[in-house]
Amino acid sequence: MALPKYTVPSLTLQQGADVAAVLQQRLDALNDLALTLKHIHWNVVGPHFIAVHEMLDPQVDAVRLMVDAIAERIATLGVAPVGTPGALVANRTWEDYSIGRDGAIAHLGALDVVYIGVIEDHRKAAKDVEEIDDVTNDLLVGHLHELELFHWFVRAHLESAGGTLTTGNAQSEKAAARKASVKDDA
Ligand SMILES: [Fe+2]
Repeated sequence: MALPKYTVPSLTLQQGADVAAVLQQRLDALNDLALTLKHIHWNVVGPHFIAVHEMLDPQVDAVRLMVDAIAERIATLGVAPVGTPGALVANRTWEDYSIGRDGAIAHLGALDVVYIGVIEDHRKAAKDVEEIDDVTNDLLVGHLHELELFHWFVRAHLESAGGTLTTGNAQSEKAAARKASVKDDA
């Protein structure tokens, strides 16, 4: 990638480019998350419909604000943020969300897996820029406060009185959805 013509004071052009590259991946991940949350908002069915449908819109709004802040930080660093869907799909390292119309608890089981992936990658990105750029680190850590809270909102639906998650150690969205909804029927 070509170096930016300028970047924020006290970073080298290379450091500006490196931080922007980390942020571009977070831009793609959170744009994807905002779309996925809306997809779930539209596709939940069953007895928990209204609670889950309405829980998700404030998450969408918050994630969209995070996306905007990330894109503007990239521009501030002297690099052009890429916000088009084609580029997102071409560059992402994960699969499309795998569930269509389904019970609310099944979707929340799958969303637990989605949030685990997004949060792990966001924490890694925050660590990767920690030594170079405190401001970007602070931005990403700020997102983690909200993302981890939203993740808990999801998990609270999947949690027993004893504190166990019904999704267990499911690794895929579909496996987590199945485990969560079996438990919900029991
Ligand atoms: Fe809506």
